[in-house]
This record gives sequence, C-alpha cells and structure tokens, in this order.
Amino acid sequence: MKIAASLLSADFNNLESEISRIEHAGIDFWHLDVMDGVFVPNFTFGVSVIDQIKTTKPLQVHFMVEKPQQLYELFSKALFAQVNQCEFIFHVENTNVDLTSLLNKVHSDGFSVGLAVNPSTIASQLDPYLQIVDSVLIMSVNPGFSGQKFISGVLGKIDYIKSINSDVKIGLDGGVSLESLSSVNMKNVDFLVSGSYLFASSNASQAVLDLRALDS
Ligand code: DX5
Ligand code: ZN
Repeated sequence: MKIAASLLSADFNNLESEISRIEHAGIDFWHLDVMDGVFVPNFTFGVSVIDQIKTTKPLQVHFMVEKPQQLYELFSKALFAQVNQCEFIFHVENTNVDLTSLLNKVHSDGFSVGLAVNPSTIASQLDPYLQIVDSVLIMSVNPGFSGQKFISGVLGKIDYIKSINSDVKIGLDGGVSLESLSSVNMKNVDFLVSGSYLFASSNASQAVLDLRALDS
C-alpha cells in the first residue's frame, strides 16, 4: 500500500524543511489539495506554491474547485507538471462539467487521472467513469479541511468500485490515522492520504511504516 502526504497540514512557514522531513519518512507521493473557496468553504494554494516544492516524487493534485476544466488547463501547463509525474483528481460532484471529456483529455496529455467521491455521494455516480480513471479517491471526511474525524460509513464504496473495475486504484482521503483504520479491512485499498496524522507525528518514519503495515 502506498502512502501519500497531504501538504495542507505542513507548516508553511517552514515549507522546505517540512517537505524534506516528510520525504525522508518514506512517503510514496505528495497529495496537493487545491481549493477555491466556492466548491468547498476553504481556499488553499495554486501553481506558484506547487512550483516551489522541490521534489522528485510524483504529485497527486486534488481539485476541489467549481471550475476544474479551467484550472486543469492552467495547472497542466505549469512547470511542476513538466518535471514531476502527475495525477489529476477531480470530483464526481462536478456535474457542471463534461467529466468524460475532461478525464480523456488528461490521459491524452500524458497524465494519470482520478475521481474523488464525497461521503454523501453514492458510489454508483462513479459508474460512467470507472473504465476511464486510474484512481478513485474515497473521501472519508467532507472536503475542505485537514484534521477532521474519519467517517467509516464510506468504506462500503471500496468493494463496490473494485467489483466494477478491479484495476482502479483506491485511496482513502481524510481523517486517516492508525487508530481510525485499526479495524478496517485494507485488502482493496491501494493508497492512503495522510495530512495531520503524519505531520503532527514526532516520528514520521514510524507513522509511515505503521500506516503501510495496515494492509499486512
Ligand atoms: C480534505 C483534503 C484532505 C486533507 C487530509 O479536504 O482533501 O486531503 O488534507 O488531511 P487529514 O489527514 O488531516 O484529514
Ligand atoms: Zn485531498
């Protein structure tokens, strides 16, 4: 199982050392939460911040925005997208957008692509897209903020998605910790996104090892 660190929980006053501390802990990739203050009640960062992340790790950009198409055009042409391996994740709740065209466009641009699904959205809303996407990000909190409590009611989506396309990589995003996942069957979970748990840990390497061991 892969472990992604969500940059949202970093101390932005010490971004460089935070990135290096968490990278040395052995994460597999970075998860970057892009919020526009409209789709979710919070606002985060854009291209200029992501371009400052000095890393060779893959980047997973999680768009929680009202206009994903426009922002994708901007982000996909940024420096980081030329340098790092990238995956762009959109929300299945972005029903104002032709998601099929957008997902196919991301693939034809040479990037990986995924969809995120909110806790209150039924998994079958993903059906039209499950043969296109590389990943599904199951939101285990309502998107907008780090440090929220894990919602275990979303876990039924894991087997549903795998039953339709077993090749789709499944990730859990929100409230991930050793405690919140202790009694969860992780067999079909391919990656975990961790923000506050990882960054707040005094021994981040151990935290990564602990999370990774959940599927063994
Ligand atoms: C929530 C974000 C998550 C968040 C995870 O809207 O999509 O990626 O940063 O942070 P924790 O692990 O603290 O819930
Ligand atoms: Zn996220």
